[in-house]
Amino acid sequence: MSHWAGLLSAAAKVNLLLLLVSVVFSWPSQSDRVPEFALTKIEESDTKGDSGKEPVTEDDADPEDLEVFYPTRQWQTIRPGQAVPAGSHVRLNLQTGEREAKLPDSEHGKSEATDERRRKRLGKVDVDSNSFTSQELKKALAKMKESEKAERKAHEEEVRKKFRPIEQLKEEFEKLNVKMETDYEIMVKLISKFNSSTSTLEEKVAALYDLEYYVHQVDNAKDFLSMGGLRLVIEGLNSSEAALKEHTAFVLGAALSSNPKVQIEAIEGGALQKLLVILATEQPLPVKKKALFALSSMLRHFPYAQQQFLKLGGLQVLRSLFRQKGTEPLHVRVVTLLYDLMVEKMVLEDSQHGDHTQEKIQQYQQVRLVPAVLEQDWCVVVSNLLAVPEHDTREKVLKTVAVLMAFCRERFRGDPALGSTLGLLRSEYEELAAQEQREGDKDGYFRELLGSINTIIQELR
Ligand SMILES: *[C@@H]1O[C@H](CO)[C@@H](O)[C@H](O)[C@H]1NC(C)=O
Ligand SMILES: *[C@@H]1O[C@H](CO)[C@@H](O)[C@H](O)[C@H]1NC(C)=O
Repeated sequence: MSHWAGLLSAAAKVNLLLLLVSVVFSWPSQSDRVPEFALTKIEESDTKGDSGKEPVTEDDADPEDLEVFYPTRQWQTIRPGQAVPAGSHVRLNLQTGEREAKLPDSEHGKSEATDERRRKRLGKVDVDSNSFTSQELKKALAKMKESEKAERKAHEEEVRKKFRPIEQLKEEFEKLNVKMETDYEIMVKLISKFNSSTSTLEEKVAALYDLEYYVHQVDNAKDFLSMGGLRLVIEGLNSSEAALKEHTAFVLGAALSSNPKVQIEAIEGGALQKLLVILATEQPLPVKKKALFALSSMLRHFPYAQQQFLKLGGLQVLRSLFRQKGTEPLHVRVVTLLYDLMVEKMVLEDSQHGDHTQEKIQQYQQVRLVPAVLEQDWCVVVSNLLAVPEHDTREKVLKTVAVLMAFCRERFRGDPALGSTLGLLRSEYEELAAQEQREGDKDGYFRELLGSINTIIQELR
């Protein structure tokens, strides 16, 4: 097992997107999965003057975005009416009676919130389950506000009667002496709910749905492993119920993300084979989607799993998805995975002076990805995907084309459809980039895309 030591030391990079997938309230009930977004309404009289703790917004936040709370790594008070993005941790401050929110602990540094570039991308982002953009939150917020207004009028009297000062609420809360359950305790319950033969399918799915939230945290995922939960979800991949397959794959993917310890246990537990079976056989699309998610989490930054994946014919399995009807929504995800794996290997091989061990470099050398990519003719697949309308997807595909250029050049040259698609994209982005410049955008997202396209066109001459 010594060849895994390097992996274990590899810093657990947190997949930001995954983290953004869930929201939690630590109050009132930790095990309640939360609505897609949280709207917090605090009565004016409840918010104590705590002006030093105004929510910090991103430098480039638009005034139009101010109704959305932008979490930072510090607890910040949520102002009345603000919507909290998915992924935030929200708590009730018992001292002040205010709701507070922040980014999840494990999310280092990166501030994802609202940069201009991201907003453009998010125009059409590939949103997995319940991560929401500011725009979406705002729309929902506006809708809710309307209905709220009407409701508020009707209930104004009632509310006034029922209104109790926050001090009194606090006292009552303390009297109740509620015991907060730890994540550990909650996971034990959820696992036993899932494992119980007396639970209905719905109850099992609900338990998995909640578990998925908890196992995002690296330490929780390790506990999940020691409780036997990982083994159970790997077995669940075999279930004859599509819903259980789907949700066990979801939990597995979340637990695997950037968690070498779980990755090792999962591959030893046979998860890789089971995921490939799901992807290779006829299954409902949501099942395949989650299986692909789990597979990606399994393979990223885990060269041993990548080797096994290639040995088991995993790349062919993914390639075959491009020949099946109805799997189109998976294609970009597959290409993104391929891109990530290729870049991961290149980055490591290029960084001779980095802090990577010789051992790790050797492991990656045994991942013979490029020969397999050529043999299975992935070059064609990738160029076909450029015809999609989303900027974000095009960006991913363009990057992949650039990475494959060294190996696929001849194939690309012989593809007239690729040539004309690139031509069309170039004129589209020339226009968008010009507009961007007129608007004084320094960031230049479209200009950057245009640059990638021009480079590719140049290299195909
Ligand atoms: C699941 O249930 C079986 C049978 O009741 C039991 O033997 C096993 O220990 C349980 N597993 C977990 C992880 O709770
Ligand atoms: C899981 O599926 C494999 C075939 O894919 C089968 O051989 C095995 O018996 C199944 N296990 C369970 C527990 O159903």
